Amino acid sequence: MTFPASRMRRLRRTPRLRALVRETRLDPSRFILPLFVRPGSGERREIGAMPGNFQLSIDEIVKEAADCQRLGIGGVILFGIPERKDGRGSTGTDPEGIIPRTVRALKETSSDLLVITDVCLCEYTDHGHCGVIENQEVANDPSLDLLAEMAVAHARAGADVVAPSDMMDGRVRAIRQALDAAGFPSTPILSYAAKYASAFYGPFREAAESAPKFGDRRAYQMDPGNHDEAMREIALDIEEGADIVMVKPALPYLDVLRAAKERFGMPTAAYQVSGEFSMIVAAAERGWIDRRLVVLESLTSIHRAGADFILTYFAREAAKYLGA
Ligand code: PBG
Repeated sequence: MTFPASRMRRLRRTPRLRALVRETRLDPSRFILPLFVRPGSGERREIGAMPGNFQLSIDEIVKEAADCQRLGIGGVILFGIPERKDGRGSTGTDPEGIIPRTVRALKETSSDLLVITDVCLCEYTDHGHCGVIENQEVANDPSLDLLAEMAVAHARAGADVVAPSDMMDGRVRAIRQALDAAGFPSTPILSYAAKYASAFYGPFREAAESAPKFGDRRAYQMDPGNHDEAMREIALDIEEGADIVMVKPALPYLDVLRAAKERFGMPTAAYQVSGEFSMIVAAAERGWIDRRLVVLESLTSIHRAGADFILTYFAREAAKYLGA
């Protein structure tokens, strides 16, 4: 039936009608808030390029997590800024490192917030790359044991989910085997499966103090032009034992997200990254866009495209908009 029998505007007339037929609805339980942990106590250092986000000491993280719990947010993902860095990222595999200590502190509280940990060497290496360097290159296989050791340290401290973001080949299998061998067969792996070499990570590298000291990450993260390659990356991670796959960044890669969800039917996440956050905040500060509406629209789009849940620096803010 076509016009005049069919009038698409009939169901758009009132807020009630629109709510009735809305296909995608956001819920705070679908949001994960990224948090940056630094040494010390009582520390709250605002990140210049990410207003409203802070590097926090463990005691402050615990308060922040309580806030997330109250707002009904699904969980947090932790990034560590260690006391010391070296070539092999030793502070990252240390069972007494900053992330294991933070996880334990969070698990001592009564909160049932999900605690996810980012597993990657770049925050812990003095050169800032996501793996160890051999012959001036990021060496794949020698990095795997370190990543697996880090994941086990996080799981042992009580992490609910471990999330490798390094983009080394074979890391999901290495981590799965190490977790199983260490007695953590039930700890899920959220794999940053299709992670692009993106300029949208700029503000994060200030936040996590993890910018590479030489070169860039294009020899291990994906080329922005590639779609088929993302499908292969995701298929491999599933084969290796990933429980959840992630596409990152989110808004510039919604096509990849949609294809991933349709093709694999896996629990699927998306990361609305630092640059996506900062662009919205900066434009809103200039009065060029309506912050509230753009935040909700961007998150709705990411969910609509196929993300079951979203890692987002807007988690708390969006939860409040949604009435939490
Ligand atoms: C670590 C990592 C990065 C991000 C998440 N994990 C940075 C990078 O790969 O350079 C980016 C997150 C963001 O921009 O919000 N490998």
